[in-house]
Amino acid sequence: MKTVTCTAPVNIAVIKYWGKRDEKLILPLNDSISFTLSQDEMCAKTTVSISPTFTEDKFWLNGKKESLENPRVQNCLKEIRRRASKRKFEGSDENVWSWHVHICSENNFPTAAGLASSAAGYACLVYALGQVYGVEGDLSSVARQGSGSACRSIHGGLVRWYKGEADDGSDSVARPIAPPDHFPNLRVIICVVNAGQKKTGSTVGMKQTVATSSLMQHRISVSVTSRIESMMKAIKEKDWPTFCDLTIADSNEMHAVCLDTFPPCVYMTDTSHAVASLLHKYNDLKTIESNINHKVCYTFDAGPNACIFAPEAVAEEVLALLLQAFPPPPAQATDDYVKGIPSQPATLSK
Ligand code: DP6
Repeated sequence: MKTVTCTAPVNIAVIKYWGKRDEKLILPLNDSISFTLSQDEMCAKTTVSISPTFTEDKFWLNGKKESLENPRVQNCLKEIRRRASKRKFEGSDENVWSWHVHICSENNFPTAAGLASSAAGYACLVYALGQVYGVEGDLSSVARQGSGSACRSIHGGLVRWYKGEADDGSDSVARPIAPPDHFPNLRVIICVVNAGQKKTGSTVGMKQTVATSSLMQHRISVSVTSRIESMMKAIKEKDWPTFCDLTIADSNEMHAVCLDTFPPCVYMTDTSHAVASLLHKYNDLKTIESNINHKVCYTFDAGPNACIFAPEAVAEEVLALLLQAFPPPPAQATDDYVKGIPSQPATLSK
């Protein structure tokens, strides 16, 4: 029997993936860019075991036995086994690709609350399967087939997912573009406005947007393409204030196309908007003080929870402001405010 345990952190998109050109292969309509957070805070953990004596594949998620019929899990498993079957193994391990697998996955943060749980989950699953079946090479295109955003959690730091051009998705891969400490001493504050499951999941929401939103056509043909290039330049030049402005603009555009969807996909709540408004006031103050390198930025995925990037010098101040403006209910205290430093890719633990 072979057993491997891996952890993979969530990634937060600063230029969003929203919309597919191929639903089955999970090929996006645009490139996206994200930050992979550190392993210490929000991550998925997966243990996989394979053995010639196992009689079937089995899967447990957060302690509950789940069906393995999920086509996305199946696609990842099939692709890893296909790649493993092409490798040469010694002696009794020769048919390792045909051994059944037992998978045990867990997240240490709310699942499906718009906090990138599927990204960490699939990146972790694919990385662990790759390790246990002895598959080498780029795994981002396999993780992508679990959940699009998962391909970015295969790498640490700042990561770009290239949409690619090939029909078979072979060039739709994620690549690291800058190390975790590229913007040094960066902090992430996650404001959990609501930890419940979202009403419209990302997969369904983005499909409806592509089908019904005319604003989406403008996003794809004009704005997101030029924003990607501006973001690459801001990252290359370590231009933090521009990075902040572009991150905010792209989050707002994604939520604008969601509202332009029919029926609308409403993810942000009044509290989400109030958090955004507070941060704009904060940034105005930094501009007046001629301290634009202490600006902060927010981004919202398909949920109401704010993800805020803040330079360490002001992170405590921003957190204190948020706690004052939005005091958490006593039982939750500050546990809901998770702090982390963008840092590592999926890794292997013993
Ligand atoms: C809003 O990766 O969850 O977080 O590919 O259908 O599984 P599927 O969607 P998913 O979409 C995430 C969208 C987003 C933005 C982003 O992470 O880029």
